[in-house]
Amino acid sequence: MEKYVIRGGNRLCGEVEISGAKNAAVAILPATVLIDGVCRVDNIPSISDVSTTLKILKSLGSQIRYINKNTIEIDNSTLQFHTVPHDLARHMRASYYFIGSLLGRFGIARVSMPGGCNFGVRPIDQHLKAFTALGASVSPMENGMIEVVADRLVGNSIYLDVVSVGATVNAILSAVLARGTTIIENAAKEPHIVDLANFLNSAGADIRGAGTDVIKVFGVERLHSTHYSIIPDQIEAGTYMVASAATGGDVLVKNVIPKHLESITAKLQEMGVVVEEYDDAIRVTRPNRLIHCNIKTMPHPGFPTDMQPPVAVLLSMADGTSIITESVWENRFRYIDELRRMGVQAQVDGKVAVFQGVEYLTAAPVKATDLRGGIAMVIAGLAARGVTEVEEIHHIERGYENLVEKLANLGADIRRVVTSDSLISRAL
Ligand code: EPZ
Repeated sequence: MEKYVIRGGNRLCGEVEISGAKNAAVAILPATVLIDGVCRVDNIPSISDVSTTLKILKSLGSQIRYINKNTIEIDNSTLQFHTVPHDLARHMRASYYFIGSLLGRFGIARVSMPGGCNFGVRPIDQHLKAFTALGASVSPMENGMIEVVADRLVGNSIYLDVVSVGATVNAILSAVLARGTTIIENAAKEPHIVDLANFLNSAGADIRGAGTDVIKVFGVERLHSTHYSIIPDQIEAGTYMVASAATGGDVLVKNVIPKHLESITAKLQEMGVVVEEYDDAIRVTRPNRLIHCNIKTMPHPGFPTDMQPPVAVLLSMADGTSIITESVWENRFRYIDELRRMGVQAQVDGKVAVFQGVEYLTAAPVKATDLRGGIAMVIAGLAARGVTEVEEIHHIERGYENLVEKLANLGADIRRVVTSDSLISRAL
């Protein structure tokens, strides 16, 4: 086990380069299963969710070749298996994207119900609704596995009852090689949905309307080799913007698409943060004490739920009372119990958290509860007085490439150390 040790109080200053988007990569890599040829994918983030996805691909029979740390060539012409085992699927939510892609390629997928961050109930009824609309049947198996089978997938209309990123991705994946046209209504509009559609179109798919709430997928016979580069990570970019604001810093966040960051930029500006936009970079400075504000998380283009925990750290230090309403997940405030140990004053009632801003935070030992809750603790540690230790960092490393190096380059005092507990257990 490792932990981060952070001595807070340093202003973050300088430049940081944003990596490829996690949530695009974990959809695009399973999508390669549909392609009868070689795919070269650039700008893949080096994070543990990507390693897990690549392990699943290998277990299915993919030939994977690293061109460099962030570029991979995948040849799926030799795929022979259609089962994703539990010991891999349990590590990440997006393992369910293999249902859509294996179903599209082979007409059969056996996948264990997925793991991932714990935000309460995370149903997949809308994914299953999409598969059955295209003619597949779904059966539960032993050990938490499900089997999805179709003789022939046929395009259909799918109306999603909730705006779901995962169900939109799975509906697209299963429809690309289906006969006829699929219309997905009430689709998610996140940048990674558009990136997935662009990737598949670059391989010969015919997907139109991604980025709007009606996506049309015109089925094609086969997909061919392609070379594609993943978009920059919107949430990683937002995280460094917040880290700069939290420490009163001056950071140029490079390799971003400013349009994807508009809802985050708008809220930071409301809090008194200065945000300057360039073509593919954003500079964030914070001259004065933060001002309180209210935030409601929403599907894109609303304020992203994945930025809710990092921004909560800013609100906990802002002048006055702020309210966050979480409208996407039923239980995404678990991390606040840990932040209270650092002096955060917050009351949580269901999906609403009320923050009474304090002048400063104080260091404490804390545990990452999940990916974005964990990064909130890192940001709190950077801003706090004293030395904060963040444990359970495997949650954080699912989604942030080179976090320690990137923060240290900006002047943070942060180290990744092996805990004595794990040294003892290794010695035994
Ligand atoms: C994706 O999760 C992201 N994960 C999450 O990122 C993100 O928080 C979430 O979208 C919302 O933006 C990936 O892209 C891998 P949803 P996903 O289906 O697809 C309900 C991060 O930190 N719902 O859009 O699982 C669901 O319960 C993470 O990077 C159903 O009711 O989210 C939730 O309330 C964690 N039935 C809402 O929809 C379904 O069948 C949105 O979930 C599916 C979802």
